[in-house]
Amino acid sequence: MSKSCCEERERPRKSCPPVHANSGFAAGVLFALLVYFLVQQQTAMSVATTAAVAQWISAKQLIRGPGEMQLIKPPGESEILVTSDMHRVPDKQPIQDSDNVKMVCTTEDHSRGLSATCKVDGDVRTNGTALSVSLVPVGWSERHEWMISPYTRSGQSLRAVTVTQLPDRAAAPPCTVTHTMPAILFGIGGYVGNYWHDYADILVPLFVASRQYHGEVTFLVSNIKHLPRWLVKYKTLLQGLSKYGVVDMDHDAYVRCFPRVTVGLRLDKDFSIVPELVPGGRLTMADFTQFVRETYALPRGAVIREPYKKPRLLLIHRGTFRRFLNEPEIVQAAEAVGFEAVVTELRLNGSEVEQARVVNSFDVVLGVHGAGLTNAVHLPPGGVLIQVVPFGKIEVMARLDFSEPATDMGLKYLDYSVSAEESSLLEKLGPDHPAIKDPDSIHRSGWTTMYDFYLMQNVRINTTRFAPTLEQAFNHLRKQ
Ligand SMILES: *[C@@H]1O[C@H](CO)[C@@H](O)[C@H](O)[C@H]1NC(C)=O
Ligand SMILES: *[C@@H]1O[C@H](CO)[C@@H](O)[C@H](O)[C@H]1NC(C)=O
Ligand SMILES: *[C@@H]1O[C@H](CO)[C@@H](O)[C@H](O)[C@H]1NC(C)=O
Repeated sequence: MSKSCCEERERPRKSCPPVHANSGFAAGVLFALLVYFLVQQQTAMSVATTAAVAQWISAKQLIRGPGEMQLIKPPGESEILVTSDMHRVPDKQPIQDSDNVKMVCTTEDHSRGLSATCKVDGDVRTNGTALSVSLVPVGWSERHEWMISPYTRSGQSLRAVTVTQLPDRAAAPPCTVTHTMPAILFGIGGYVGNYWHDYADILVPLFVASRQYHGEVTFLVSNIKHLPRWLVKYKTLLQGLSKYGVVDMDHDAYVRCFPRVTVGLRLDKDFSIVPELVPGGRLTMADFTQFVRETYALPRGAVIREPYKKPRLLLIHRGTFRRFLNEPEIVQAAEAVGFEAVVTELRLNGSEVEQARVVNSFDVVLGVHGAGLTNAVHLPPGGVLIQVVPFGKIEVMARLDFSEPATDMGLKYLDYSVSAEESSLLEKLGPDHPAIKDPDSIHRSGWTTMYDFYLMQNVRINTTRFAPTLEQAFNHLRKQ
C-alpha cells in the first residue's frame, strides 16, 4: 500500500486504482454468476435457466461432507483407484507394499464446479514440457491416464496435467533430479487475481494440502504466465508452507522424481476448511489465520482487551461502484458508538504483508459486499466483520462468501441490509421502477440484469438505522 495513495483517513486520490480494477475482477464476476444460480435455487427464486446452468443448480451443497469422497469413473474405465499390482509379476523388483505405490484420484460431482485431484505415491516422475506426472509401477501394470485440471474450480482454461500409470519400468524416463520430499502441483489461472479467490481457490486449499509436511514439500506451479506477480505477492505465505523454491513447470526441462506428487488442490468449503478432511490431521480455518499471522509476523493474536482503549474499526473504501456515499457520517456514527474509525482503501497489488499489518491493527472490518472483505482474514480472532449488503434481495449470495468463513476464522459476523431509501437506485430509477418495487422480477430476468442493477449501486447508509449493528459489534468486543 503506497502512502501517498492510501494514508489512513485520507481519501484516495483519483489516480488510485480501485480495489477491483484488474483482470481477476471479471473472472470473479463469472464465478459469482455461478454462485448466483446456486443461490437462486436455494432461495427458491424462479428463474429461467439454460441447460448449462441447470447442472450447477442440481448441486446445492457447498460443503463436501466427510465420507462423501468419491472415485471418479472416466469414460471406459471401471474405476480410477489404481494400485500397482506387484503380486502379479514376482520378478526381481523389490517387493513393495502396494499401499506405498498407488494412484488415487477423487472428484466431486462436476455440478459442484470442482476439478478432480490425484495423489500419486511411489516412484513418481514429472515432465514439465509434457506437463505429465507418471507413476512407475513396481511390476506389470495396465496403462491408465487421466487429465487433471490443476485449478480447484472446473471449467477454467488451464492446460490439463496428464497423470499416468506407466505400463512398466522400461517406459519411465530417467530421473534428472531425485527429490526426497513430496510435491504438490497446482496452476495459476481461473479467478486468480481476485483477492477472495486468491485465498479461497489457492492459499487455503494449499495450506490444507501442504501443512502436514512442515515445509518439506516442493511446489510445482503451472501457468505462471497468467499472472506472474501472483507468486511474488504471496511469496511469504508460500515460503511459510515450503522450504524449497517453486518449480515453474511450464519451463522445467527436467524429469523430477518424487516419492509422492499431489496433482491439483481440493476445495472442501468455500474460503474455509472442513477439519475432518485435512490430510495428515485436523486443521481449522482458525489454524489458517494463525499461520498467516505467524508468517507475516502480525502482532495481534487477539482483539483489544484494555477497557480504556477504543476498539478500532476499519471502513473499506471502494473507488467506483458499491461505494459508501457518506463515509464521513458512517465514521461519525462509529465514533459515537465508541470506536476509533478509519477509512482506508486496500489495494490489490499493494504489498500483501503491509496490507495485512494495517488490517491486523483493527478489531472490526466494515465494507460493502466485495472482495475487499477478504481482508477479514488478517483480523485478530475475536474481531468482527460487518458486511453491508446492497439493496435487491442478494443477502443469501453475499453471505455465502463471508458469513461462515468469518465464523470459522473465529470472528463475529454481522450484516446490514441496505434499504431502497439508502440505495442510489431509488434516486436514479424512481420509486415505481420494478428494480425498487419488485426485486424478484429483476432476479427473474437473469444474471446480467440483476448484476447491472444491484451490484452496480452505491449506498448512503442511514446511520440511525445502522447504529444498532455498530453497537452489536462494539458490545461483542467489550464482552471479551
Ligand atoms: C518430456 O516430454 C516431452 C514431450 O513428450 C519429451 O519430448 C521430452 O523428451 C520429455 N523430457 C524428458 C527429459 O524426458
Ligand atoms: C499496481 O498496479 C498499477 C496499475 O497496474 C501500477 O501502476 C503500479 O505500479 C502497481 N503497484 C505495485 C506496487 O505493483
Ligand atoms: C433512518 O432510519 C430511521 C430508523 O429506521 C428512520 O426513522 C428515519 O426516518 C430514517 N431516515 C431517513 C432519512 O430515511
